[in-house]
Amino acid sequence: LSTSSRIGCAARINKNISTNESSPIVSKFSVSELADKVAFCRCWLSSKFPKCDGSHVKHNTATGDNVGPVVVEKPKK
Ligand code: FES
Repeated sequence: LSTSSRIGCAARINKNISTNESSPIVSKFSVSELADKVAFCRCWLSSKFPKCDGSHVKHNTATGDNVGPVVVEKPKK
């Protein structure tokens, strides 16, 4: 199987995000800039990408998928 067949995707997925399309890096954050808890999008559908805006819920309902954000939380002091 080709790489695209194995991952179930034949087209580019990094084309609808307003970023530098020549780089796979979407955004860089310093840990000190982040809020105490941040949810980062893993479905590529968020209008606030790279942060989750809840769009994955509609996707999951429509497709039966179960994708969701990765949540990064600073340790409590
Ligand atoms: Fe993409 Fe929530 S909007 S994971």
